[in-house]
Amino acid sequence: MSRPTPPPGPREPVGPTCPTGPTSTADCAGSAGALPGSIAVRPPRTRLRESLRFAVTHSLPAFARGVPAPRPAVQTLLGAVGQPRWSAATLRTLRDRYHGAPVLLGGASGDTLVLLDPVDVAEFFARPVRELALDAVDKTKMLTVLEPTGVVCSHGDLREERRALNDQVLAHHEETHPSCGTYRTVIAEECTRLTTGPTLGYARLERAVHRISRRIVLGEQAAGDEELHHRLLALRKEGNWGAVRRGPTPAARQRYEAATGRLHVYARHAPATTLLGRAMDTACGADVDPVGQAHHWLLALDAVAAIVARTLLLLAAHPAEQAALYDVPHAPDTARLRACVLEGLRLYPLVPDLLRILRADTTWRGVPYPAGTHVLVPIGFLQRDSGLVPGGSLFAPGRWLAEGAERDTLMAPFGHGEGRCPGDRLGLMAATEVCAQLLSGHRVTGGRPRLDPHRPLPGVLNASGSQLTLARP
Ligand code: HEM
Repeated sequence: MSRPTPPPGPREPVGPTCPTGPTSTADCAGSAGALPGSIAVRPPRTRLRESLRFAVTHSLPAFARGVPAPRPAVQTLLGAVGQPRWSAATLRTLRDRYHGAPVLLGGASGDTLVLLDPVDVAEFFARPVRELALDAVDKTKMLTVLEPTGVVCSHGDLREERRALNDQVLAHHEETHPSCGTYRTVIAEECTRLTTGPTLGYARLERAVHRISRRIVLGEQAAGDEELHHRLLALRKEGNWGAVRRGPTPAARQRYEAATGRLHVYARHAPATTLLGRAMDTACGADVDPVGQAHHWLLALDAVAAIVARTLLLLAAHPAEQAALYDVPHAPDTARLRACVLEGLRLYPLVPDLLRILRADTTWRGVPYPAGTHVLVPIGFLQRDSGLVPGGSLFAPGRWLAEGAERDTLMAPFGHGEGRCPGDRLGLMAATEVCAQLLSGHRVTGGRPRLDPHRPLPGVLNASGSQLTLARP
């Protein structure tokens, strides 16, 4: 069942401002800075108890879920015990207690300023990444294991150069990728085998997506190189532990060297249409490692398998939304399908916590914060909050068809501003195209896990282990 959703428009700040006014913000549960533009002298630091609650209900589960290599069993367990609800309750309590003001939490890697108000979220995306950089400590420790020369692991001039290469290769500023035609053909070829039976299990879907990733990034030559993916997956599992280690282990270094060596071999013959071929043809500074970027491109394209599985599970549970895809009998409407993919990503984002680090002493709402402070937008929580996004826990893809929806800073599966995902269009195209191939001539009539369209959707939808039932219309 789908429900009409009002188009997203400009948003007002939510949450009450401090009732006692700007001169007495310190009385307001310590919420100095609660009023935009007020000059405050004291950051609104939470009490130790609140920092601990945040760690137990939010940060530790996020770490346990596994970031570069999600751990399905942990995800399922956290879903079963209701962890997403604990986390949401913690964030709601913080927002209420501090009247929507940014709150400073202590943590093992230093202080983190948590933003829970739409005005602050918009500001977060608007600030330049030279000031609010993406290479936060824990994120960098994790990603250094699998992509030490990646754009995310850097800041300042070096980051600008690496980002420019990514933008160029991924055609971030272009409406469609120049190699889009080739990539669509690759996707169509890899999907033909997926609809031969009445069911599609996740393992088969994932294998096909890995082939698609290798063909798009490295070319035909790498299509069958499953060994490369085994190595990359092992490396990503090491990355899961990065945040709690001093640095990559010798085993992780060895895995990285071995996988990268293989990428270098492919780079020598990568066709000009592939991402690596484009990277090799792009002029860049000596400090920019084009082959090193391919680790992230493969990681991101691999995520398409889970995105597709979730989108199709959502469509199985919402037959009216699926029926709305078919203006003509056999080929689904791509714009609507794209909206379904975006809606699945809003409900189940790949990156539920957007984390940055201040690279200079800065003020936020008039409150000074030193360089090194982390800044967090828990976008997974905010973009599901019905107070901010109407029907936040419901599947309503139509909201993405409204004018300006993709610029709405409260719905940010790809982020916004200078740090926005440079592979946004490519990733969306790939996920939409895989869904379109599976839904051409078939409908998804059921699936596991089963979703109840009459209730708020669960906080966890484990894709691995999922199964889709396909039938001819
Ligand atoms: C398919 C769905 C995808 C989603 C949902 C997604 C989401 C994201 C998000 C949320 C970020 C971080 C933004 C931030 O911190 O503000 C990001 C960064 C990034 N993504 Fe994606 N992404 C996807 C696909 C891709 C693809 C296909 C590629 C490349 C082939 C890619 C390459 C990157 C890179 C290089 C960054 C780092 C950007 C930087 O540090 O400036 N992504 N992505």
